[in-house]
Amino acid sequence: MGRIMTEEGTMEMKPLGPTGVTLPEIGLGTWRHNGSPEVIRRALELGALFIDTAESYKTETGVGNAIRGNSHKYFIGTKVSPGHFRHKDVLNAADASLKKLGVDQIDLYQLHWPSLRIPIAETMGAMKELVQAGKVRFLGVSNFSVEQTESAQEALGATPLVSNQVLYSLFDREIEKELLPYCAEHQITVIAYSPLAQGKIDHALRNRPKLTAVLDSVCAKTGKTRAQVLLNWCVRHPSVVTIPQTNKVERVDENCAASGWRLTQEQYDVLSETDGF
Ligand SMILES: NC(=O)c1ccc[n+]([C@@H]2O[C@H](COP(=O)([O-])OP(=O)(O)OC[C@H]3O[C@@H](n4cnc5c(N)ncnc54)[C@H](OP(=O)(O)O)[C@@H]3O)[C@@H](O)[C@H]2O)c1
Repeated sequence: MGRIMTEEGTMEMKPLGPTGVTLPEIGLGTWRHNGSPEVIRRALELGALFIDTAESYKTETGVGNAIRGNSHKYFIGTKVSPGHFRHKDVLNAADASLKKLGVDQIDLYQLHWPSLRIPIAETMGAMKELVQAGKVRFLGVSNFSVEQTESAQEALGATPLVSNQVLYSLFDREIEKELLPYCAEHQITVIAYSPLAQGKIDHALRNRPKLTAVLDSVCAKTGKTRAQVLLNWCVRHPSVVTIPQTNKVERVDENCAASGWRLTQEQYDVLSETDGF
């Protein structure tokens, strides 16, 4: 599906739903981003040009500052919170996000969580209007089950739902049962969040001596760090990209170097099968 070659390495690209646009398999999350532009600019330099934010993270202004005047390509995803799912509120929230980001168009606008209160048809009606007005390029959801994803697509009619952003890592594999196969079948890109267990890798490995030994042996064989092996494992499926977050520039380099190579099938299988998953 293409790749971005930089002096430092290769970033593999994956299709974004049926759009014809590709996204790097490793992007950058900005929940708890500290506002400094260096991390975001380094990510863009290394081909991690998909930057994920949300109105609720309060990091849109920081993202906007980092991309302003930058010569590298970027693709910005942001999210509207369920408290703004009424028709008028969606339109206002999008305008506020555009202003904070300092862009004319949001590349990917996502519903952050499903709402049990506001009908999906009302929210998606407003989302479609944003696309028609040119304020948004593509529409996605986040934390939606298979049923909720189906309803979201139904409410959108002919406008494609291109992505579902959900929890996925070696330590959280619930989506493999139903959601991932469903998304793959329907050309919906899965954007995996918290691929590094929110930075608590040691904690996630606590009381799991077998998995720890397997992970460390794969690290030794590949010469990669734990984070790199976990990220490469996460993006193994062709429909999955991920958005690790860091406030450290050197970790942007480390995380981007999780692309451009592949675990062997044997390494992938042993990681996947240890601990009885
Ligand atoms: N849609 C949703 O509901 C939802 C929910 C959660 C997250 N997200 C999105 O997904 C992004 C990523 O998820 P996340 O932030 O929850 O967790 P994550 O990416 O799994 O972990 C982030 C943490 O890992 C640490 N880290 C980063 N690279 C590392 C490395 N190479 N080695 C060791 N530690 C490393 C970071 O600390 P340092 O800063 O110290 O490096 C940070 O504390 C978020 O930023 C957000 O954009 C979406």
